[in-house]
Amino acid sequence: TDVFTYDPAFTSTASCESKITFIDGDKGVLLHRGYPIDQLAQDSSFLEVCYLLLNGELPNAAEFETFEHTITHHTMLHEQFDRFFNGFRRDAHPMAIMVGAVGALSAFYHDSTNIDDPKQRMISSHRLIAKMPTIAARAYKYSVGQPFVHPRNDLSYAENFLRMCFSVPAEDWKPNPVLTRAMDRIFILHADHEQNASTSTVRLAGSSGANPFACIAAGIACLWGPSHGGANEEALNMLKEIGTVDRIPEYVQGVKDRRYRLMGFGHRVYKNYDPRAKVMQQTCHEVLAEVGHADDPLLKVAMELEKIALNDPYFIERKLYPNVDFYSGITLRALGFPAEMFTVLFALARTVGWISQWKEMIEDPSQKIGRPRQIYTGAPYREYVPVDKRG
Ligand code: CMC
Repeated sequence: TDVFTYDPAFTSTASCESKITFIDGDKGVLLHRGYPIDQLAQDSSFLEVCYLLLNGELPNAAEFETFEHTITHHTMLHEQFDRFFNGFRRDAHPMAIMVGAVGALSAFYHDSTNIDDPKQRMISSHRLIAKMPTIAARAYKYSVGQPFVHPRNDLSYAENFLRMCFSVPAEDWKPNPVLTRAMDRIFILHADHEQNASTSTVRLAGSSGANPFACIAAGIACLWGPSHGGANEEALNMLKEIGTVDRIPEYVQGVKDRRYRLMGFGHRVYKNYDPRAKVMQQTCHEVLAEVGHADDPLLKVAMELEKIALNDPYFIERKLYPNVDFYSGITLRALGFPAEMFTVLFALARTVGWISQWKEMIEDPSQKIGRPRQIYTGAPYREYVPVDKRG
């Protein structure tokens, strides 16, 4: 019989070769196509990072202009798509809507489902990056019972998204540059993260030749879980549950007693610090100051919790540090989003990473269908027994 390497949860298995993202978990390094995340978050824009992830190089001015034009002119959804939204209950979780709606894009763009054509692969990538904000904003507007706001192609990616979420028709909505920049930076921080659970899901789904819209829907489904993208929503719920600084020691004791985990803490790969968390913390302070919430009690709880945890042997021994989701919830709440939207925003930003990884895999000549094996631990061979002969 065959002998397989047993690696549950893939802690030591490389599933592919990739040129997109590099992580050194011990040093807290994250590079996209060689560029460090802090420099990209500081000086680049989300759309430029999208170009970089998809194409391998930063664009020159003309290339960027063409790319931006393409993305901003693919933001509309088919009129029929609205019917899709209207079928959901108003209290549906927006991630449930996202899984269904993004998968349904394949029913609207038949040409883009032809994965053998490089041109169609690029168009489907552009369509996904362009339409995710529109779909996400519609899921949000639907949940609050407000009319949809159509995308505008004269605004930046983040401005357009914030406007679709927070303006109502006839209102003269003006983007706030600090908040727009923060939104863009949050998108950059979530753009890609090599072979995490959802990206591996996208690759595995895509390895069978499934169309890219279906593959991204699979990634969204995986991202939803609280151990992955759902952690930002859970982290904010946790801070709310703790409520005040004096309740932190009791809560931390509950973590040490293994009654629950500290959400927004720990990472499979980062065992020193998560470089995204540093930028997120800074962005959090900027946003709270801008909206006049600098004394947000939840921020106080978060900062004190971080301080206590970083000095506690339980967390030190296990190398547990705040991850990107620890401060993102407070920041997104200050931007005006309800907690149910946090993971949707993660999905929106991660779409470029998923589609870049999918494209890289399809274009790899050694690509085959993914097919893990197993160590069988069930019953040995036995004869079928008819029901009247069973004891
Ligand atoms: N709180 C308390 N203890 C923890 C935590 C935590 N957040 N994370 C790990 N541990 C403990 C765990 O109990 C184990 O202890 P022991 O060795 O005594 O059994 C040890 O640390 C190692 O944990 P693990 O479960 O083997 O680690 P993992 O690599 O499988 O899990 C993780 C990584 C991110 C799922 C986990 O740290 C976790 O559940 N964190 C909370 C959820 C979270 O914030 N997720 C977002 C991750 S970053 C963004 C993203 O990927 O979406």
